[in-house]
Amino acid sequence: MAIRTILTQDDPALNKVCHPVTRFDDKLADLLDDLKETLTQANGMGLAAPQVGILRRAAIVLLEDESMLEMVNPEILDQRGEQPGWEGCLSLPGMWGNVMRPDWVKIRAQDRNGQWFEMEGTDMTARCFCHEISHLDGHMYTELTERLYTAEELDEILAQEGEQANHPKRERRGRRRR
Ligand code: NI
Repeated sequence: MAIRTILTQDDPALNKVCHPVTRFDDKLADLLDDLKETLTQANGMGLAAPQVGILRRAAIVLLEDESMLEMVNPEILDQRGEQPGWEGCLSLPGMWGNVMRPDWVKIRAQDRNGQWFEMEGTDMTARCFCHEISHLDGHMYTELTERLYTAEELDEILAQEGEQANHPKRERRGRRRR
């Protein structure tokens, strides 16, 4: 396994539509292992292959129980509701935006062996599914928010809203990037 370099916003790889994965081989396994290791080192909540320069439809999402879900060729099957929330991205360090996402999302994806599975996610997991799958289509969350905030600005806003006192868990998870 190896830690790969996470590309940042100006890199053209982040704006490309990624190709489906067709070979479930050792190279894919290496990519998924590297994505996991890179995500762990970056202390993020999700990471997509194009963020490390691989234009293939593969991504990792950190689930509520802190396990990592591998998604190969993921698709959103259904979604409901909406939730506003703060979102950051490992490809845009230090910046945050308020992004409306569905609060329930059902996906299907393949595992590293090509086996299809379905999974439902709410709250932060639903947000992560949307964020990572968007990366595979060359989209960044910044397209869905009116303005970006620095970490300092976000701290001020959260302090004013009293969220840090009321929702420490949500705050902690919400501030990790994808
Ligand atoms: Ni991201």
